[in-house]
Amino acid sequence: MTTKYILITGATDGIGKVAAKAMAKQGHAVIIHGRNQNKAQKVCEEIKAETGNDKVDNITGDLFSFDEVKRMAEDFKQKYDRLDVLVNNAGAIFSKERELTKEGLEKTMALNVFSPLLLTELLLDVLAKSPSGRIINTSSGTHKIAKKPDFNNLQFENNYSSSRAYASSKLYTIWITRHWSAELKRRGLKNITANVLHPGAVATRFGQDNDKGFINNMVFKLALPFMSTPEKGAATTVYLATSQEVENVTGKFFGNMKEEKAQDKYYSIENEIKIWDYCQKVISPYLNN
Ligand SMILES: NC(=O)c1ccc[n+]([C@@H]2O[C@H](COP(=O)([O-])OP(=O)(O)OC[C@H]3O[C@@H](n4cnc5c(N)ncnc54)[C@H](OP(=O)(O)O)[C@@H]3O)[C@@H](O)[C@H]2O)c1
Repeated sequence: MTTKYILITGATDGIGKVAAKAMAKQGHAVIIHGRNQNKAQKVCEEIKAETGNDKVDNITGDLFSFDEVKRMAEDFKQKYDRLDVLVNNAGAIFSKERELTKEGLEKTMALNVFSPLLLTELLLDVLAKSPSGRIINTSSGTHKIAKKPDFNNLQFENNYSSSRAYASSKLYTIWITRHWSAELKRRGLKNITANVLHPGAVATRFGQDNDKGFINNMVFKLALPFMSTPEKGAATTVYLATSQEVENVTGKFFGNMKEEKAQDKYYSIENEIKIWDYCQKVISPYLNN
């Protein structure tokens, strides 16, 4: 097996942590991302001890902040001159009231869509050095309940609800990944693939800590015992990151370690481009300067 250099975001808890451990167990060099230095360090030591793999490292950055995403990409490049797999795993659903990041962006879109796109852009040069680079984005089955995109309201200034913002962010993640797969070819980066997955409904801290309104809070609590384990949830992430089977596969949507059909009710190439262009405009001040 060739050792891959794998950076996984949101690997201090839940699906990301379990996926990081599984990939370290396979002998890969795994760089765990977290927003809290102590927690990231602790998880890193725990995974090293459990797997006996000392090529496990950690990196920190709050993905609510583009400044931190940029600093984190620079930190990565100072330490590593190669990246084989970028797993954009960190993501969350937020509370019933619309909240903004310090940079004035709606939090769900900032964490689930804009920051992964910015991080990917900033790490493309190191991914390009890999003989076969992989970008893996994380969507969700809830993309299926996303409402028709309102291109004048992509950060939910009107009609915000936590579930609406979350479902939309995960639908756009699929469209952005598709766009990446063509865009990488256009940029001459034929050695890099981009795929997107949903992990299923997984019992993690996801959605447990914030107030999404009485009904949503109850649904999240009551569903917990029926959800799958983080190990099962992480399986598709690990598969897309490490399996030879998907070496040349790009632009596809996966669940349960196989290709699935995404809900394409609102999909068109025009809509994909509109979302891509909008997100690129949002992150543009942080590119190349
Ligand atoms: N669980 C599910 O049922 C489910 C279903 C479909 C899709 N997903 C998706 O799967 C991915 C992982 O979810 P999970 O269930 O593992 O969630 P989780 O247990 O809540 O873990 C989320 C991870 O993201 C990190 N994170 C959150 N906000 C961050 C920020 N602002 N900056 C940097 N890191 C941040 C967390 O860091 P801390 O440790 O510091 O909190 C944690 O490591 C997400 O994209 C989620 O949308 C989950």
